[in-house]
Amino acid sequence: MEQVRSYMQSGELYAYSASADTDQVAGVVLAIPVEQDTVELKAVAVDRQLQGRGIGKLMLQRVLEDIRASGVKRVLVGTANAGIGQLAFYQKAGFRLLRIERDFFSPERGYPENMEDNGIRLRDMVWMDLVYPTAT
Ligand SMILES: CC(C)(COP(=O)(O)OP(=O)(O)OC[C@H]1O[C@@H](n2cnc3c(N)ncnc32)[C@H](O)[C@@H]1OP(=O)(O)O)[C@@H](O)C(=O)NCCC(=O)NCCS
Repeated sequence: MEQVRSYMQSGELYAYSASADTDQVAGVVLAIPVEQDTVELKAVAVDRQLQGRGIGKLMLQRVLEDIRASGVKRVLVGTANAGIGQLAFYQKAGFRLLRIERDFFSPERGYPENMEDNGIRLRDMVWMDLVYPTAT
C-alpha cells in the first residue's frame, strides 16, 4: 500500500493506493487539528468497490501511527448513530465511545430529513476518541 500525503490548508490529507503498481486512490483520510494535542479524523473513506478487504484497517493504522509520531496525544472521530459498520470499524481500531451529540444531523444544520442507514434514522453524532498512552 502506497501513501501519498499532501498538506491541506487546515490539516493533512492522506491518500492511499491499494498497491505500489497503481496511482489509483483506494482510500483517503483527512486529519485536522482541532485543539491542543488533538486531531480530528474527517472524510475517512475507502472506494466502495474495495471496501471489506482490510484496506480501511491498514490505512487507519498507518494514519494513526503517523499522527502519533507527530506528538499528538488524542484522536477524535465522529460518526452517525446509524453507521453500524463505522462504529465497529473505529472501535476495532482502538477508539472508545466518548459522547453523543443529539440531533446533529438535523435540517436546521443543513442535513436532509429522514436520512437512513441500515434501516435506522440518522439523527445523532457519536463521538469517539483514541488516547495514546503516555510513556511512564
Ligand atoms: C468505514 C470504511 C472506511 C471501512 O473501510 P474498509 O476497507 O471497508 O474496512 P476493512 O475491510 O479494513 O475493515 C476493518 C475492520 O472493520 C470491520 N468493519 C468494516 N466495515 C464493517 C461493517 N459494515 N460492519 C461490521 N464491521 C465492519 C471489519 O470487519 C474489519 O474487522 P476485523 O479487523 O476484525 O477484520 C469504509 O467502509 C467506507 O469508506 N465507508 C463509507 C464511508 C464512511 O462511512 N466513512 C466513515 C465516515 S465516519
